[in-house]
Amino acid sequence: MALLPRKKRFKGVPAPIVPRVPLAGSSQVGEEIKFHEVGIFLVERRMGSSRRRFLSELARRKGFWVEELMSESVTHVVSENNTGNEVLEWLEKQNGLCRNGFTATLLDITWFTESMGAGRPLEVENRHQLQVEGAVAVTEELISPYACQRRTSLMNKNRLLTEALKVLAENAEFSESEGRYLAFSRASSILKSLPHTVTKVEDLQRIPSLGVHSRKVIKEILEDGSCSEVESILHNERYQTLKQFTSIFGVGVKTADKWYREGLRTLDQLRASDIKLTRKQEAGLMHHSDLGAQVTRAEADLIKQIVERAVHIFLPHAVVTLAGGFRRGKDFGHDVDLLITHPEEGKEEGIIYQVIKWMASKDLILYHNFTGSSYKAKSMDPEIFDHFEKCLSIFRLKTELVNNLESEEVSRSDPLARNETRATGLADRTETSRQGTAAGAGERGWKAMRVDLVVAPFSQYAYALLGWTGSRLFERDLRRYAKHLKKMSLCSHSLFDSEQNIFLQATTEEEIFAHLGLEYIPPHERNA
Ligand code: CTP
Ligand code: MN
Ligand code: MN
Repeated sequence: MALLPRKKRFKGVPAPIVPRVPLAGSSQVGEEIKFHEVGIFLVERRMGSSRRRFLSELARRKGFWVEELMSESVTHVVSENNTGNEVLEWLEKQNGLCRNGFTATLLDITWFTESMGAGRPLEVENRHQLQVEGAVAVTEELISPYACQRRTSLMNKNRLLTEALKVLAENAEFSESEGRYLAFSRASSILKSLPHTVTKVEDLQRIPSLGVHSRKVIKEILEDGSCSEVESILHNERYQTLKQFTSIFGVGVKTADKWYREGLRTLDQLRASDIKLTRKQEAGLMHHSDLGAQVTRAEADLIKQIVERAVHIFLPHAVVTLAGGFRRGKDFGHDVDLLITHPEEGKEEGIIYQVIKWMASKDLILYHNFTGSSYKAKSMDPEIFDHFEKCLSIFRLKTELVNNLESEEVSRSDPLARNETRATGLADRTETSRQGTAAGAGERGWKAMRVDLVVAPFSQYAYALLGWTGSRLFERDLRRYAKHLKKMSLCSHSLFDSEQNIFLQATTEEEIFAHLGLEYIPPHERNA
């Protein structure tokens, strides 16, 4: 298998002489591979062997993987002064490979030199690509590597493939391998955006940014119906355990892994152990099954109404907006994301404390954690997602209200007045946590639900709305696009143009897309 040697080297295992590198003086032994999703092949035609050798060594010193021979694991074929058709013809003559025999992208040397200059493989842009007359790859437009340049509705036509890639992404996350996590997530996201179902490897020709590993997985699934690597991950005990532990609100990969190494395997074992939980984790574990049951749109609408009512007691003109997955048109979500603002800037300060305090007095809050605003335009820490005043919470929602909600009137009735019956108090916490099925919510009369409340000053509202609508990958790519292609820095507060040295103002999401030179993508098509 072509991938193996590269992976081994990447992990620092003493590099074996790779059988696919037979040419003398050009093996990659001794150089660390930094970008293992990219395999470069330099076409000797018109480049000459000595320049080819020089460029290969240069790339290897910079951590790129350069193949001596054309093979399936090559993702980027680079040539100088050739047309696409000349390269294809040459490859066919030299290697007996026709266009359908590989999925690598044909590139001009500009991609190579720019990537060397940048010290990392750059995203392939149209101008880097060699044109091939009469080929599918150029008659159809290429698919952008940036999610913010793709339209991704909720109609995923490639679920079989995206689910498999999601497992690989999760597993990479559990190994704390950010690079692989992103590569698999991006591959999965691209497939979600396709208007058709991929049925053969050639269907991937328009997607130059797909990594080698993802291509291999897709190929295997298309040919065999499943992928052995994915199957073995699904049966892996560590994967299963980490998946379960990280599904607890407040538990990340590091903590889950620690518990796994301490021998814990199930939630019951965790409950029975004397492990010290944080307040957040304790709440997460106690309400685990409620929180694991999806929030419906009706429930989300109801929560929005409740919060809106509470907010209006203190600030009659404040605006509450449903963001996150529900704004993207999802019918179910893991939580409810609400954005609060006020047209008179400054008025919104502190509203979240008043709202939560008031709701807690009505016994609607099971857990909350405030974060104060820490926004300073000049010194933003890029590590932190945003600096808004916010409250991550767990609401206690009466199930009866949801049932009523489906039967009209609702919106006009007062949802709060009817949610005042006190339910299970703290005394029977453990009991609740043990039975705690979502079905149990019915008998109990209430359901625990995750709610994120975020407060944005009016002048930052458009940026906050864009940032809190997601999806996460869409947001990530918006920022990546802004940074790499526009020399701008985007976050949930602002957009800074470093060439003009100014912050660009915006009152709508449309204006932000326009500042970035992007076609506007509505929320429903941001499900990347
Ligand atoms: N977000 C953020 N900062 C955080 C958490 C989330 O800015 N600390 C933003 C992200 O851009 C994300 C959006 O808020 O896309 C919503 O986050 P989340 O609720 O986690 O995801 P959803 O897309 O709403 O998915 P789900 O339906 O499962 O809730
Ligand atoms: Mn959400
Ligand atoms: Mn959220």
